[in-house]
Amino acid sequence: MTNAEDPTLPAQRLVVVGQGYVGLPLAVRAVEQGFTVVGFDLDVARIERIRRGDSPVEDIPNDRLGAALATGRFIATADPDDCSGFDVAVISVPTPLREGMPDLSFIEAAARNLGEHLKPGATVILESTTYPGTTQELAGPILEDASGLVAGADFHLGYSPERIDPGNPTWTFENTPKVVSGIDAASLTAVQGFYDRLVDRTVPVSSPMEAELTKLLENTFRHVNIALVNELAMFSHALGINIWEAIDAASTKPFGFMRFTPGPGVGGHCLPIDPSYLSWRVRRTLGEAFRFVELANDVNEHMPAYVVSRLTESLNDRSLSVRGQRILLLGLSYKRNTGDARESPSQPVARRLVELGADVLVVDPHVDDRFFPAGVTRVDLTEDTVASAAAVVVLVNHDVFDLDLVVRTATCVLDTQHCVNGPNVEHL
Ligand SMILES: NC(=O)c1ccc[n+]([C@@H]2O[C@H](COP(=O)([O-])OP(=O)(O)OC[C@H]3O[C@@H](n4cnc5c(N)ncnc54)[C@H](O)[C@@H]3O)[C@@H](O)[C@H]2O)c1
Repeated sequence: MTNAEDPTLPAQRLVVVGQGYVGLPLAVRAVEQGFTVVGFDLDVARIERIRRGDSPVEDIPNDRLGAALATGRFIATADPDDCSGFDVAVISVPTPLREGMPDLSFIEAAARNLGEHLKPGATVILESTTYPGTTQELAGPILEDASGLVAGADFHLGYSPERIDPGNPTWTFENTPKVVSGIDAASLTAVQGFYDRLVDRTVPVSSPMEAELTKLLENTFRHVNIALVNELAMFSHALGINIWEAIDAASTKPFGFMRFTPGPGVGGHCLPIDPSYLSWRVRRTLGEAFRFVELANDVNEHMPAYVVSRLTESLNDRSLSVRGQRILLLGLSYKRNTGDARESPSQPVARRLVELGADVLVVDPHVDDRFFPAGVTRVDLTEDTVASAAAVVVLVNHDVFDLDLVVRTATCVLDTQHCVNGPNVEHL
């Protein structure tokens, strides 16, 4: 039962710290379920955009954001004092790497701010992806120090990893099971009770450490399996074997196999970063290397250079050098149908081609200008642009791309996504 369905339920006040890919969808969903929500973010420009109803996150269309704002129960703010008086607070701030090490400064700042506004009986939940131990060893003590309260005795504390998959129309925030945890039984009850109002199914685990590890296990699993097919793709090409056909054939096995496909590398906030949080923790606590993660990093980080070398070979076959050629790149984001270009492998591909002296054109209507590397030119996908290029490289398969036009018009296509076929097309 939600407040929206039963107005006699108490309207709980929720603070969501960080209004990015994770925080904004959570905030909007909570408004829809009857909460009064403070969406707090230090980025004033982002807050102004949200207030105008101009959603910065593709998964939240403007009409959905507008409806949330129209309830009068969604306050987007950059003022830390607006965080006061919350019943539940969720932390969804970035957890990047700095010089290869976890940078927890955003979580520390968020916890300190929430601690200053924490009242007895409230619940604080960390959602940022991080290494096992962060909730209890880092967030808890900061909250206690800033509030003078004791975690467990005076307030509830837990961790719940976010599984949001931007651009996925099938698996949404609501219908994706949510793993929940608390530092004690009462905290777990509070955390689970909160998410039960927002998602179809919650999955309790026994402590925040298991919940933190769940997220890293999921992302490391993907990272390692992508590295496996990427390495196989490179060997298969050298051996003259069609890796894509082998993957399709293996995918007919109804059990014991899961389909992963090669690509120009891994990107986004998760795969290039999260497994390193786990390997850092293993190394720091146990003094041992997490070899799978290190190997997967090595293979996946090499993929942009491999794409450039395949393109170079293909030009070489036509007696062309990279220098001076016009190369058209399709897709700059890290995955299809999103504008998120963080850690995107398309960027090192573009940068390397610029370094080699190519005239690099890039098409990506989803991605902001600020993510375009220096020296590349943003263009639209037209017959003239395609015809003018010595080669086209498909790095991301956005729905908006007219790939028939590309195959029809291009002299040569290097397709890293296996989304086009033709006599002028080479696959990774
Ligand atoms: N994007 C995804 O698909 C995804 C999926 C699952 C988990 N995660 C994890 O969720 C966390 C957040 O990721 P995201 O993609 O939403 O990041 P994001 O960069 O899109 O958003 C984070 C926001 O937090 C704000 N912020 C930073 N410090 C703050 C502070 N002290 N107080 C208030 N606001 C602050 C930033 O201005 C930014 O707008 C990360 O740990 C990430 O690994 C992301």
